[in-house]
Amino acid sequence: MNILIIGSGGREHTLAWKISESPKLDKLFVAPGNAGTRAIGTNIPVDLGNFQSIKEAVIEKDIDMVIVGPEAPLVNGIHDFFLQDKILKNIPVIGPVRKGAMLEGSKDFAKDFMEKYNIPTAAHKTFNRENYKEGFEFIDMMKPPYVLKADGLAAGKGVLIVEDPDGAKNELQAMITKEKFGTASAKVLIEEFLQGIEISVFVLTDGKSYILLPEAKDYKRIGEGDTGLNTGGMGSVSPVPFANKEFMQKVEEQIIIPTIEGLQAENIEYKGFIFFGLMNVNGNPYVIEYNCRMGDPEAEVVIPRIESDLLELFEAVANGTLADTKIEIDHRVAASIMLVSEGYPLAYEKGKIISGLENVNNCVVFHAGTAMDIETGKIKTSGGRVLAVTAYGADMKEALKTAYENAEIINFDGKFYRTDIGFDLK
Ligand code: AMP
Ligand code: GLY
Repeated sequence: MNILIIGSGGREHTLAWKISESPKLDKLFVAPGNAGTRAIGTNIPVDLGNFQSIKEAVIEKDIDMVIVGPEAPLVNGIHDFFLQDKILKNIPVIGPVRKGAMLEGSKDFAKDFMEKYNIPTAAHKTFNRENYKEGFEFIDMMKPPYVLKADGLAAGKGVLIVEDPDGAKNELQAMITKEKFGTASAKVLIEEFLQGIEISVFVLTDGKSYILLPEAKDYKRIGEGDTGLNTGGMGSVSPVPFANKEFMQKVEEQIIIPTIEGLQAENIEYKGFIFFGLMNVNGNPYVIEYNCRMGDPEAEVVIPRIESDLLELFEAVANGTLADTKIEIDHRVAASIMLVSEGYPLAYEKGKIISGLENVNNCVVFHAGTAMDIETGKIKTSGGRVLAVTAYGADMKEALKTAYENAEIINFDGKFYRTDIGFDLK
Protein backbone atom coordinates (compact mmCIF):
# COMPACT_ATOMS: atom_id res chain seq x y z
CA MET A 1 0.00 0.00 0.00
CA ASN A 2 1.03 3.58 -0.60
CA ILE A 3 0.33 5.61 2.51
CA LEU A 4 0.02 9.34 3.07
CA ILE A 5 0.31 10.69 6.62
CA ILE A 6 -0.94 14.24 7.12
CA GLY A 7 0.94 16.42 9.63
CA SER A 8 4.44 17.40 10.67
CA GLY A 9 5.00 16.76 14.38
CA GLY A 10 6.33 14.11 16.72
CA ARG A 11 3.04 12.22 16.51
CA GLU A 12 3.31 12.00 12.73
CA HIS A 13 6.94 10.88 12.83
CA THR A 14 5.91 8.18 15.31
CA LEU A 15 3.09 6.99 13.04
CA ALA A 16 5.49 7.01 10.09
CA TRP A 17 8.14 5.07 12.06
CA LYS A 18 5.62 2.40 13.07
CA ILE A 19 4.06 2.09 9.61
CA SER A 20 7.48 1.88 7.99
CA GLU A 21 7.87 -1.54 9.71
CA SER A 22 4.73 -2.95 8.07
CA PRO A 23 5.14 -5.63 5.39
CA LYS A 24 2.03 -4.14 3.79
CA LEU A 25 3.77 -0.84 3.07
CA ASP A 26 5.02 0.04 -0.38
CA LYS A 27 5.66 3.78 -0.36
CA LEU A 28 5.32 6.18 2.55
CA PHE A 29 4.59 9.88 2.11
CA VAL A 30 4.20 12.55 4.79
CA ALA A 31 2.68 15.96 4.15
CA PRO A 32 4.36 18.22 5.04
CA GLY A 33 6.52 16.13 7.40
CA ASN A 34 9.81 17.05 9.09
CA ALA A 35 13.46 15.97 9.02
CA GLY A 36 12.58 12.73 10.82
CA THR A 37 9.87 11.65 8.38
CA ARG A 38 12.13 12.64 5.48
CA ALA A 39 14.58 9.94 6.55
CA ILE A 40 11.98 7.13 6.33
CA GLY A 41 9.60 8.38 3.65
CA THR A 42 9.03 11.18 1.19
CA ASN A 43 7.90 14.57 2.43
CA ILE A 44 5.38 16.44 0.30
CA PRO A 45 5.22 20.18 0.92
CA VAL A 46 1.51 20.97 1.10
CA ASP A 47 -0.57 23.50 2.95
CA LEU A 48 -2.90 21.44 5.16
CA GLY A 49 -5.68 23.98 4.72
CA ASN A 50 -5.67 23.34 0.98
CA PHE A 51 -7.52 20.06 0.45
CA GLN A 52 -7.26 20.48 -3.32
CA SER A 53 -3.47 20.26 -3.13
CA ILE A 54 -3.79 17.17 -0.91
CA LYS A 55 -6.07 15.67 -3.57
CA GLU A 56 -3.45 16.33 -6.24
CA ALA A 57 -0.77 14.63 -4.15
CA VAL A 58 -3.03 11.62 -3.48
CA ILE A 59 -3.66 11.15 -7.20
CA GLU A 60 -0.09 11.78 -8.27
CA LYS A 61 1.42 9.40 -5.71
CA ASP A 62 -1.27 6.75 -6.16
CA ILE A 63 -2.12 6.77 -2.45
CA ASP A 64 -4.19 3.88 -1.03
CA MET A 65 -4.86 5.26 2.46
CA VAL A 66 -4.63 8.64 4.20
CA ILE A 67 -3.88 8.90 7.93
CA VAL A 68 -4.64 12.27 9.46
CA GLY A 69 -2.46 13.27 12.44
CA PRO A 70 -3.67 16.68 13.67
CA GLU A 71 -7.17 17.90 14.54
CA ALA A 72 -7.48 20.97 12.30
CA PRO A 73 -7.90 19.18 8.93
CA LEU A 74 -10.41 16.79 10.55
CA VAL A 75 -12.46 19.59 12.08
CA ASN A 76 -12.27 21.36 8.71
CA GLY A 77 -13.75 18.28 7.05
CA ILE A 78 -10.92 16.54 5.18
CA HIS A 79 -12.65 13.17 5.50
CA ASP A 80 -15.94 14.63 4.19
CA PHE A 81 -14.00 16.21 1.30
CA PHE A 82 -12.73 12.74 0.33
CA LEU A 83 -16.19 11.15 0.64
CA GLN A 84 -17.74 13.84 -1.55
CA ASP A 85 -15.11 13.62 -4.29
CA LYS A 86 -15.72 11.22 -7.21
CA ILE A 87 -12.05 10.24 -7.48
CA LEU A 88 -11.20 10.15 -3.77
CA LYS A 89 -14.32 8.63 -2.27
CA ASN A 90 -13.00 5.06 -2.12
CA ILE A 91 -9.66 5.98 -0.60
CA PRO A 92 -9.89 5.29 3.14
CA VAL A 93 -9.17 8.14 5.53
CA ILE A 94 -8.16 7.35 9.12
CA GLY A 95 -9.71 10.17 11.12
CA PRO A 96 -13.38 11.04 11.66
CA VAL A 97 -15.74 13.02 9.46
CA ARG A 98 -16.34 16.62 10.52
CA LYS A 99 -19.37 15.83 12.66
CA GLY A 100 -17.30 13.31 14.66
CA ALA A 101 -14.34 15.66 14.89
CA MET A 102 -16.69 18.18 16.54
CA LEU A 103 -16.18 16.20 19.74
CA GLU A 104 -12.92 18.16 19.77
CA GLY A 105 -13.90 21.10 17.53
CA SER A 106 -16.68 22.31 19.80
CA LYS A 107 -16.53 21.80 23.54
CA ASP A 108 -20.20 22.79 23.72
CA PHE A 109 -21.10 20.01 21.25
CA ALA A 110 -18.98 17.55 23.28
CA LYS A 111 -20.73 18.55 26.53
CA ASP A 112 -24.19 18.15 24.98
CA PHE A 113 -23.12 14.74 23.68
CA MET A 114 -21.82 13.65 27.10
CA GLU A 115 -24.94 14.88 28.87
CA LYS A 116 -27.20 13.11 26.37
CA TYR A 117 -25.37 9.79 26.76
CA ASN A 118 -24.76 10.03 30.53
CA ILE A 119 -20.98 10.18 30.26
CA PRO A 120 -19.36 11.54 33.46
CA THR A 121 -17.94 15.06 33.01
CA ALA A 122 -17.74 18.31 35.02
CA ALA A 123 -21.01 20.26 35.38
CA HIS A 124 -21.05 23.31 33.12
CA LYS A 125 -22.99 26.10 31.39
CA THR A 126 -22.25 27.73 28.06
CA PHE A 127 -22.43 31.49 27.47
CA ASN A 128 -22.29 33.77 24.42
CA ARG A 129 -22.52 37.46 23.53
CA GLU A 130 -26.26 37.53 24.27
CA ASN A 131 -26.21 35.98 27.72
CA TYR A 132 -22.69 36.38 29.10
CA LYS A 133 -23.95 38.60 31.94
CA GLU A 134 -25.83 35.55 33.23
CA GLY A 135 -22.38 33.97 33.37
CA PHE A 136 -21.51 36.47 36.13
CA GLU A 137 -24.38 35.13 38.24
CA PHE A 138 -23.30 31.57 37.45
CA ILE A 139 -19.79 32.41 38.67
CA ASP A 140 -21.22 33.85 41.91
CA MET A 141 -23.02 30.57 42.51
CA MET A 142 -19.91 28.43 41.97
CA LYS A 143 -16.98 27.57 44.17
CA PRO A 144 -13.48 28.61 43.03
CA PRO A 145 -11.35 27.93 41.07
CA TYR A 146 -13.31 28.72 37.93
CA VAL A 147 -12.61 26.84 34.70
CA LEU A 148 -13.32 28.88 31.54
CA LYS A 149 -13.06 27.20 28.15
CA ALA A 150 -13.28 28.59 24.65
CA ASP A 151 -15.76 26.47 22.69
CA GLY A 152 -13.67 26.12 19.52
CA LEU A 153 -10.13 25.05 18.61
CA ALA A 154 -7.55 27.31 20.23
CA ALA A 155 -4.32 25.32 19.78
CA GLY A 156 -4.46 24.07 23.36
CA LYS A 157 -4.58 27.59 24.78
CA GLY A 158 -8.33 28.10 25.20
CA VAL A 159 -8.66 26.97 28.83
CA LEU A 160 -8.24 29.37 31.76
CA ILE A 161 -8.32 28.42 35.42
CA VAL A 162 -8.99 31.49 37.54
CA GLU A 163 -8.98 31.68 41.34
CA ASP A 164 -11.13 34.72 42.09
CA PRO A 165 -14.67 35.49 40.91
CA ASP A 166 -13.88 39.00 39.62
CA GLY A 167 -10.97 37.69 37.57
CA ALA A 168 -13.23 34.97 36.16
CA LYS A 169 -15.86 37.56 35.18
CA ASN A 170 -13.24 39.74 33.48
CA GLU A 171 -11.88 36.78 31.55
CA LEU A 172 -15.36 35.65 30.54
CA GLN A 173 -16.07 39.11 29.16
CA ALA A 174 -12.68 39.33 27.38
CA MET A 175 -13.12 35.91 25.81
CA ILE A 176 -16.61 36.64 24.48
CA THR A 177 -16.68 40.35 23.72
CA LYS A 178 -13.00 40.99 22.92
CA GLU A 179 -12.46 37.69 21.10
CA LYS A 180 -9.51 36.80 23.31
CA PHE A 181 -9.22 33.49 21.44
CA GLY A 182 -10.73 34.78 18.19
CA THR A 183 -13.96 33.18 17.04
CA ALA A 184 -13.09 30.09 19.15
CA SER A 185 -14.28 32.04 22.22
CA ALA A 186 -17.53 33.37 20.74
CA LYS A 187 -19.01 30.76 23.07
CA VAL A 188 -17.43 30.06 26.45
CA LEU A 189 -18.05 27.18 28.84
CA ILE A 190 -17.78 27.70 32.57
CA GLU A 191 -17.06 24.42 34.24
CA GLU A 192 -16.86 22.87 37.69
CA PHE A 193 -13.21 22.33 38.73
CA LEU A 194 -12.29 18.68 39.04
CA GLN A 195 -9.60 17.76 41.56
CA GLY A 196 -7.59 14.71 40.56
CA ILE A 197 -4.88 13.25 38.34
CA GLU A 198 -5.12 13.40 34.56
CA ILE A 199 -4.71 10.47 32.24
CA SER A 200 -5.01 10.05 28.48
CA VAL A 201 -6.90 7.03 27.16
CA PHE A 202 -7.09 6.12 23.47
CA VAL A 203 -9.15 3.87 21.28
CA LEU A 204 -9.09 3.08 17.62
CA THR A 205 -12.63 2.64 16.29
CA ASP A 206 -14.34 1.70 13.05
CA GLY A 207 -17.53 3.30 14.37
CA LYS A 208 -19.02 0.04 15.64
CA SER A 209 -16.31 -1.67 17.62
CA TYR A 210 -13.12 -0.42 19.22
CA ILE A 211 -9.75 -1.54 20.44
CA LEU A 212 -8.23 -0.05 23.54
CA LEU A 213 -4.69 1.25 23.09
CA PRO A 214 -2.18 1.66 25.92
CA GLU A 215 -2.98 4.60 28.19
CA ALA A 216 -0.50 7.42 28.84
CA LYS A 217 0.21 10.41 30.99
CA ASP A 218 1.28 13.70 29.49
CA TYR A 219 3.14 16.52 31.26
CA LYS A 220 1.70 19.76 29.91
CA ARG A 221 3.34 22.51 31.94
CA ILE A 222 6.69 23.99 30.96
CA GLY A 223 8.14 23.94 34.50
CA GLU A 224 9.32 21.31 36.95
CA GLY A 225 6.63 20.01 39.31
CA ASP A 226 3.89 20.90 36.79
CA THR A 227 4.30 24.65 37.11
CA GLY A 228 4.32 27.54 34.65
CA LEU A 229 2.69 27.94 31.26
CA ASN A 230 0.84 25.22 29.40
CA THR A 231 2.65 23.68 26.45
CA GLY A 232 1.76 21.12 23.81
CA GLY A 233 3.31 18.55 26.17
CA MET A 234 6.80 18.16 27.65
CA GLY A 235 6.96 14.40 27.98
CA SER A 236 4.88 11.30 28.49
CA VAL A 237 4.88 7.85 30.00
CA SER A 238 2.94 4.65 29.38
CA PRO A 239 1.54 2.62 31.11
CA VAL A 240 0.12 4.69 33.99
CA PRO A 241 0.31 2.85 37.34
CA PHE A 242 -3.04 4.04 38.69
CA ALA A 243 -4.85 2.87 35.55
CA ASN A 244 -5.47 -0.54 37.09
CA LYS A 245 -8.06 -3.06 36.00
CA GLU A 246 -10.80 -1.61 38.17
CA PHE A 247 -10.25 1.96 36.94
CA MET A 248 -9.99 0.93 33.28
CA GLN A 249 -13.17 -1.11 33.60
CA LYS A 250 -14.97 2.03 34.75
CA VAL A 251 -13.44 3.94 31.85
CA GLU A 252 -14.70 1.38 29.35
CA GLU A 253 -18.16 0.96 30.87
CA GLN A 254 -18.91 4.55 31.78
CA ILE A 255 -17.06 6.41 29.04
CA ILE A 256 -15.78 4.46 26.04
CA ILE A 257 -18.78 2.23 25.35
CA PRO A 258 -21.39 5.02 25.77
CA THR A 259 -19.29 7.22 23.49
CA ILE A 260 -19.16 4.63 20.69
CA GLU A 261 -22.87 3.90 21.15
CA GLY A 262 -23.65 7.62 21.19
CA LEU A 263 -21.78 8.15 17.93
CA GLN A 264 -23.77 5.33 16.36
CA ALA A 265 -27.05 6.71 17.71
CA GLU A 266 -26.16 10.09 16.20
CA ASN A 267 -25.38 8.41 12.87
CA ILE A 268 -21.81 9.65 12.96
CA GLU A 269 -19.57 7.22 11.09
CA TYR A 270 -16.40 7.60 13.14
CA LYS A 271 -13.29 5.90 11.80
CA GLY A 272 -10.12 6.76 13.63
CA PHE A 273 -8.66 7.53 17.03
CA ILE A 274 -10.64 8.86 19.96
CA PHE A 275 -8.54 10.44 22.69
CA PHE A 276 -10.28 10.66 26.07
CA GLY A 277 -8.63 13.29 28.27
CA LEU A 278 -9.72 12.07 31.71
CA MET A 279 -9.49 13.16 35.31
CA ASN A 280 -9.25 10.45 37.94
CA VAL A 281 -11.29 11.86 40.82
CA ASN A 282 -10.96 9.49 43.78
CA GLY A 283 -10.86 6.45 41.51
CA ASN A 284 -13.70 7.62 39.26
CA PRO A 285 -13.03 8.79 35.68
CA TYR A 286 -14.48 12.05 34.29
CA VAL A 287 -14.04 13.34 30.75
CA ILE A 288 -12.17 16.66 30.62
CA GLU A 289 -12.03 16.68 26.86
CA TYR A 290 -12.35 14.57 23.77
CA ASN A 291 -9.83 14.78 20.97
CA CYS A 292 -10.42 13.33 17.52
CA ARG A 293 -6.80 12.17 17.02
CA MET A 294 -3.83 10.71 18.87
CA GLY A 295 -2.19 12.86 21.51
CA ASP A 296 1.23 14.40 21.10
CA PRO A 297 3.51 13.52 23.01
CA GLU A 298 1.33 10.57 24.06
CA ALA A 299 1.71 9.00 20.60
CA GLU A 300 5.46 8.86 21.19
CA VAL A 301 4.94 6.32 24.01
CA VAL A 302 1.63 4.68 23.01
CA ILE A 303 2.51 3.76 19.40
CA PRO A 304 5.90 2.22 20.34
CA ARG A 305 4.02 -0.08 22.75
CA ILE A 306 1.84 -1.50 19.96
CA GLU A 307 3.37 -4.74 18.71
CA SER A 308 0.71 -5.45 16.07
CA ASP A 309 0.98 -4.20 12.51
CA LEU A 310 -0.60 -0.74 12.68
CA LEU A 311 -1.44 -0.75 8.98
CA GLU A 312 -3.41 -3.95 9.48
CA LEU A 313 -5.34 -2.27 12.28
CA PHE A 314 -6.00 0.76 10.05
CA GLU A 315 -7.25 -1.53 7.29
CA ALA A 316 -9.66 -3.11 9.77
CA VAL A 317 -10.85 0.40 10.73
CA ALA A 318 -11.43 1.25 7.07
CA ASN A 319 -13.20 -2.06 6.33
CA GLY A 320 -15.30 -2.02 9.49
CA THR A 321 -13.82 -5.32 10.69
CA LEU A 322 -12.16 -4.16 13.89
CA ALA A 323 -14.35 -6.54 15.94
CA ASP A 324 -12.37 -9.44 14.40
CA THR A 325 -8.99 -7.90 15.17
CA LYS A 326 -6.77 -8.20 18.21
CA ILE A 327 -3.99 -5.95 19.36
CA GLU A 328 -0.71 -7.11 20.84
CA ILE A 329 0.87 -4.79 23.40
CA ASP A 330 4.50 -4.56 24.49
CA HIS A 331 4.47 -4.82 28.27
CA ARG A 332 7.57 -2.73 28.80
CA VAL A 333 7.28 0.85 30.02
CA ALA A 334 7.89 3.63 27.51
CA ALA A 335 8.93 7.16 28.51
CA SER A 336 9.45 10.15 26.28
CA ILE A 337 11.26 13.41 27.03
CA MET A 338 10.53 16.42 24.86
CA LEU A 339 13.48 18.64 24.00
CA VAL A 340 12.21 22.16 23.37
CA SER A 341 13.59 25.51 22.24
CA GLU A 342 14.47 28.04 24.93
CA GLY A 343 11.57 30.46 25.38
CA TYR A 344 8.86 28.00 24.35
CA PRO A 345 5.83 28.17 24.75
CA LEU A 346 6.39 31.90 24.23
CA ALA A 347 8.75 33.31 21.56
CA TYR A 348 11.77 31.20 20.61
CA GLU A 349 14.43 31.11 17.92
CA LYS A 350 14.60 28.59 15.10
CA GLY A 351 17.35 27.35 12.82
CA LYS A 352 19.71 26.00 15.51
CA ILE A 353 21.88 23.11 14.36
CA ILE A 354 21.12 19.83 16.16
CA SER A 355 24.09 17.60 17.04
CA GLY A 356 24.51 14.19 18.63
CA LEU A 357 21.59 12.47 16.90
CA GLU A 358 23.94 9.76 15.60
CA ASN A 359 25.29 9.04 19.11
CA VAL A 360 22.10 7.98 20.90
CA ASN A 361 21.68 4.42 22.24
CA ASN A 362 18.72 2.26 23.15
CA CYS A 363 16.15 4.89 22.29
CA VAL A 364 14.07 6.20 19.42
CA VAL A 365 14.25 9.90 18.65
CA PHE A 366 11.06 11.25 17.16
CA HIS A 367 11.33 14.56 15.36
CA ALA A 368 8.76 17.28 16.05
CA GLY A 369 10.00 20.74 15.02
CA THR A 370 12.97 19.90 12.81
CA ALA A 371 13.92 20.58 9.20
CA MET A 372 16.84 19.52 7.06
CA ASP A 373 18.95 22.26 5.53
CA ILE A 374 19.04 21.20 1.88
CA GLU A 375 22.40 22.88 1.21
CA THR A 376 24.35 21.50 4.15
CA GLY A 377 22.35 18.36 4.93
CA LYS A 378 22.33 19.45 8.58
CA ILE A 379 19.25 19.05 10.77
CA LYS A 380 18.02 22.24 12.38
CA THR A 381 15.34 23.26 14.85
CA SER A 382 12.17 24.62 13.29
CA GLY A 383 9.69 24.66 16.15
CA GLY A 384 9.14 25.02 19.90
CA ARG A 385 8.94 21.30 20.53
CA VAL A 386 11.96 19.92 18.68
CA LEU A 387 12.57 16.23 19.47
CA ALA A 388 10.95 13.54 21.60
CA VAL A 389 13.39 11.02 23.04
CA THR A 390 11.56 7.76 23.75
CA ALA A 391 13.04 4.80 25.62
CA TYR A 392 11.71 1.50 26.88
CA GLY A 393 12.45 -0.02 30.27
CA ALA A 394 11.48 -2.97 32.43
CA ASP A 395 9.99 -0.36 34.76
CA MET A 396 9.42 3.36 34.67
CA LYS A 397 12.66 4.16 36.45
CA GLU A 398 14.68 2.33 33.82
CA ALA A 399 12.76 3.81 30.88
CA LEU A 400 13.22 7.34 32.27
CA LYS A 401 16.92 6.77 32.99
CA THR A 402 17.63 5.71 29.40
CA ALA A 403 15.51 8.50 27.93
CA TYR A 404 17.29 11.10 30.08
CA GLU A 405 20.77 9.77 29.24
CA ASN A 406 19.99 10.19 25.58
CA ALA A 407 18.35 13.58 26.07
CA GLU A 408 21.78 14.69 27.33
CA ILE A 409 23.60 13.35 24.26
CA ILE A 410 21.60 15.46 21.80
CA ASN A 411 22.40 19.15 21.69
CA PHE A 412 21.27 22.40 20.15
CA ASP A 413 21.57 26.00 21.22
CA GLY A 414 18.87 26.75 23.80
CA LYS A 415 17.91 23.10 24.39
CA PHE A 416 15.56 22.79 27.36
CA TYR A 417 13.71 19.87 28.90
CA ARG A 418 11.94 18.99 32.12
CA THR A 419 13.95 16.68 34.37
CA ASP A 420 10.96 15.42 36.34
CA ILE A 421 8.80 13.56 33.81
CA GLY A 422 7.09 10.69 35.62
CA PHE A 423 7.97 12.26 38.99
CA ASP A 424 4.46 11.87 40.37
CA LEU A 425 4.16 8.21 39.41
CA LYS A 426 7.37 6.54 40.50
P1 AMP B 1 -8.28 21.00 27.88
O1 AMP B 1 -7.82 21.90 26.78
O2 AMP B 1 -9.77 20.81 27.94
O3 AMP B 1 -7.48 19.72 27.94
O4 AMP B 1 -7.87 21.73 29.24
C1 AMP B 1 -6.53 22.08 29.50
C2 AMP B 1 -6.17 21.69 30.89
O5 AMP B 1 -6.97 22.40 31.85
C3 AMP B 1 -6.42 20.23 31.20
O6 AMP B 1 -5.37 19.43 30.80
C4 AMP B 1 -6.58 20.26 32.70
O7 AMP B 1 -5.32 20.28 33.33
C5 AMP B 1 -7.25 21.58 32.95
N1 AMP B 1 -8.69 21.42 33.08
C6 AMP B 1 -9.60 21.46 32.10
N2 AMP B 1 -10.85 21.28 32.58
C7 AMP B 1 -10.73 21.12 33.91
C8 AMP B 1 -11.66 20.91 34.99
N3 AMP B 1 -12.97 20.86 34.78
N4 AMP B 1 -11.16 20.79 36.23
C9 AMP B 1 -9.83 20.87 36.46
N5 AMP B 1 -8.91 21.09 35.50
C10 AMP B 1 -9.34 21.21 34.24
N1 GLY C 1 -0.93 16.01 24.66
C1 GLY C 1 -2.22 16.56 24.58
C2 GLY C 1 -2.74 16.68 23.22
O1 GLY C 1 -2.24 16.10 22.26
O2 GLY C 1 -3.73 17.37 23.06
